[in-house]
Amino acid sequence: MIKLYNDHFQNYKVYGIPKAQLVIADIPYNVGADAYGSNPMWYKGGDNKNGESELAGKEFFDTDKDFRIAEYMHFCSKMLRPEPKGNDEGKEIGSQGRKSGGAPCMIVFCAFEQMMYVIEKGREYGFKNYIALQFYKNYSPQVLKANMRVVGNTEYAILLYRNKLPKFNNNGRMVFNAMPYPRDTETVKVHPTQKSVPLLRYLIELFTDKGDVVIDPCAGSGSTLLAAAQCGRNAYGFEIKKDFYREATEKVLNNIQPSLF
Ligand SMILES: C[S@@+](CC[C@H](N)C(=O)[O-])C[C@H]1O[C@@H](n2cnc3c(N)ncnc32)[C@H](O)[C@@H]1O
Repeated sequence: MIKLYNDHFQNYKVYGIPKAQLVIADIPYNVGADAYGSNPMWYKGGDNKNGESELAGKEFFDTDKDFRIAEYMHFCSKMLRPEPKGNDEGKEIGSQGRKSGGAPCMIVFCAFEQMMYVIEKGREYGFKNYIALQFYKNYSPQVLKANMRVVGNTEYAILLYRNKLPKFNNNGRMVFNAMPYPRDTETVKVHPTQKSVPLLRYLIELFTDKGDVVIDPCAGSGSTLLAAAQCGRNAYGFEIKKDFYREATEKVLNNIQPSLF
């Protein structure tokens, strides 16, 4: 089942969504009027000789400034499934019958400046544990500054969980907290902060099994839902802006086999 709702995630109760193994979202950045700073899109045609474009001095979208992280954490505390009891769930990972946890978790993509705030807010809602994640690109959106200073090629996220370690399908491989950010050359681009579907597939496969439920409360282009569908997971998402919702359903999620809807 794959379902995107054109609604505020706070209205989730109306939709009877099952609880999730993984909630994954790229929350609005609150970067305000500098959203396109150092990005070629600040200028017409991406060239500063042409003068500023309509995106200069704008935020990514007007929901940026109204986003309330407490509401978001409340949603996650309700919609992530409870932790498995005792030691009955999880996978054998050693000769002594040790088990990795089968617990749920959430991944919050956020700006570097938001990381401590996300950790603190998560703690207030029962997510006492975290792992900081970094994703490095082999390109930078700040190309206009490339001859002036070190430019950013990193995205950040916090993985949050309650007490028990999250489900972890590492297949015996060590997973570093700084990982490559694969460029997405396969998915149509409909959103200014669209995440890489190959990266989302990697994370979904690491922290969930086939048939598990994945929720993206701030779905944007629907990239998480697409990745989850491609991995055989059930996915639910919310997108408050009508235009993003329409583009997501008509251009991104339209190629998923109808049987999944
Ligand atoms: C940073 S973007 C997410 C981009 C997405 N990860 C992607 O790959 O396309 C955040 C999205 O959350 C949406 N949003 C903001 N507040 C929301 C809310 N309360 N409920 C649902 N969607 C919301 C915004 O309209 C925006 O499209």
